[in-house]
Amino acid sequence: MTATDQDQDQSAQRAAKTLRAGGLVILPTETVYGLAADAADPKAVARIYEAKGRPSFNPLIAHVPDLAAAERLARFDDRARRLAEAFWPGPLTIVAPIADPAAVCDLARAGLDTVAVRAPAHPLSQAVLRAFGGPVVAPSANRSGRPSPTTYADAVAETGFAAGAALDGGPCAVGLESTVVAVLDGPVRLLRPGGVTRSQLDAVVGPLAEAEVDAKRSPGRLTLHYAPDAPVRLEAAGPAPGEAFLGFGPSCPDDGLNLSPKGDLAEAAANLFTYLRKADRSSPKAIAIAPIPAEGLGEAINDRLRRAAGFVG
Ligand code: TXA
Ligand code: MG
Repeated sequence: MTATDQDQDQSAQRAAKTLRAGGLVILPTETVYGLAADAADPKAVARIYEAKGRPSFNPLIAHVPDLAAAERLARFDDRARRLAEAFWPGPLTIVAPIADPAAVCDLARAGLDTVAVRAPAHPLSQAVLRAFGGPVVAPSANRSGRPSPTTYADAVAETGFAAGAALDGGPCAVGLESTVVAVLDGPVRLLRPGGVTRSQLDAVVGPLAEAEVDAKRSPGRLTLHYAPDAPVRLEAAGPAPGEAFLGFGPSCPDDGLNLSPKGDLAEAAANLFTYLRKADRSSPKAIAIAPIPAEGLGEAINDRLRRAAGFVG
């Protein structure tokens, strides 16, 4: 074992011990930082909702190391299995019927008979999941309604007060949350755009159905879920007096923060929440944001921005 492996192993053991004792852990994943608890322990799960100030009807994602562990919790059909094989470990969450209701408690599922499952790719989250040996629920580590933390410092600032252990996994490579798909009866439905794009999913299971009917079942789609304190103005050519500005691409005015001077959507996604926070810290009149192309990861970025601006999603 190298020194780093040993550090990682020690951190994972410490985190697993905290989880077993009913405590919360700040957990790095490749998408965003999570606030983690033992999925089977409703008291621990309640502490998550409390720490986040999160409406209790919003169900959580159960994190597992791999497909075999997922199939102990949830009933995966052939399509769910193909999606897991294509994108796990990685930024895809699959909603499927619950198979073992005790493994992911009711509170974590907000009473639903389905469960959202994801195998994260970050080596530290993998190490914690394997050390713990059971499913771990982890919503983004922000307080409810605020941008998701993509750095250790932001995660600790948001909900570190409630955590018994906090692991530093560096800045998140993806920078926005996992894509959530429902694989239940009927066609596969997109519940939340995210790190895996629609066209990547289409290539594995064919065209996705729209999921507006599921808005109530996936309250992550609620208005203002990702809102900073300042109002947000979209499709802005530049900042008005008193506004902060987030640009995109080479032709933007350079008197603000540019999500990606090169015009690269993955770079913009990775910077999104950090820059929203930075802009918000100067207490501007509003945060004006340049237009972001709608294709690929742009769909998820625009989804987050519309929520930040308070439009219904
Ligand atoms: O990237 C991510 O997914 C991060 C990291 C930490 O893994 N987690 C995350 O969790 O974003 P959270 O709790 O902020 O978002 C979970 C999303 C919500 O939109 C929730 O409504 C949806 O998943 N969800 C959870 N269980 C569901 C279910 N049974 N049916 C439909 N939607 C569900
Ligand atoms: Mg969240």
